Amino acid sequence: MIFTRQTLMMCAADYFDVTYVINHWMRGQVGNVDVQLAQKQWRDYHAIVSKLVDVQLVDPQPNQPDYVFTANAGFVIGNRMVNSHFRTAERQREEPFNQASFMSWGYELVHWPQEVCFEGAGDALLDRGNKNLWCGYGFRSDMSASRILGQIYDRPTIALHLINPRFYHLDTCFCPLEGGYAMYYPGAFDAEALEKIEANLPADKRIVVGDEDAAQFACNTVNIGNTVIMNHAGDALRAKLAVAGFEVITTPLTEFLKAGGAAKCLTLKLLEV
Ligand code: ARG
Repeated sequence: MIFTRQTLMMCAADYFDVTYVINHWMRGQVGNVDVQLAQKQWRDYHAIVSKLVDVQLVDPQPNQPDYVFTANAGFVIGNRMVNSHFRTAERQREEPFNQASFMSWGYELVHWPQEVCFEGAGDALLDRGNKNLWCGYGFRSDMSASRILGQIYDRPTIALHLINPRFYHLDTCFCPLEGGYAMYYPGAFDAEALEKIEANLPADKRIVVGDEDAAQFACNTVNIGNTVIMNHAGDALRAKLAVAGFEVITTPLTEFLKAGGAAKCLTLKLLEV
């Protein structure tokens, strides 16, 4: 295991753009990204993250405009990595690049059944207060991914059905935080999923995110220690996070929202225990 300190996998936005439509947010955005601004937003965000943790960069790939969203590359605990198997042909092209990176860093690649779609840490999030693994399904990852991950890692998994096309990956609407807290947007889930969230998260650990913040990808947050980094947070959310002991840093990632991603999507934590 080569990473002994928290390290985030990131990919510079050199080739980021919206050139196809594979989610709700990308509709009407082909040709509408200010690529210079996107690259500046990414550099500013990278500078913030770099002050808190190590960053492991991968080389941007031409014609892979979504490769910046490294959260989807895979899922790891310890030295065992699952290389994602994307739902869409556009992003399946990223899989060999991710596999090569993971192997070069010394991870053991775990066998993943290729008939099952699974989009990595976009749809699988470790609870920070217990051993639970929260899994999202309905748009990108298959429901069975949750059960398979539970077997691979010997963790209790909680499968949450996503029903709102604007929140198509779990990390767009749910964010476990240090101390066992979690931010989430109820409008993304079906009733059964909301029951599971309430059953597995004590009331005083639930940080409910409202419509406006959710639409600005507030749930798509990177949490490092007591710091949370996100595109935007309104006053009410800031107040809730402050009460829970978190320091909020916001940095504009508006160009990435056009592709359906923000702060968390642009990173993958490479050290998880
Ligand atoms: N355009 C990308 C896609 O649709 C955005 C991925 C966002 N990533 C995430 N982890 N939510 O796949």
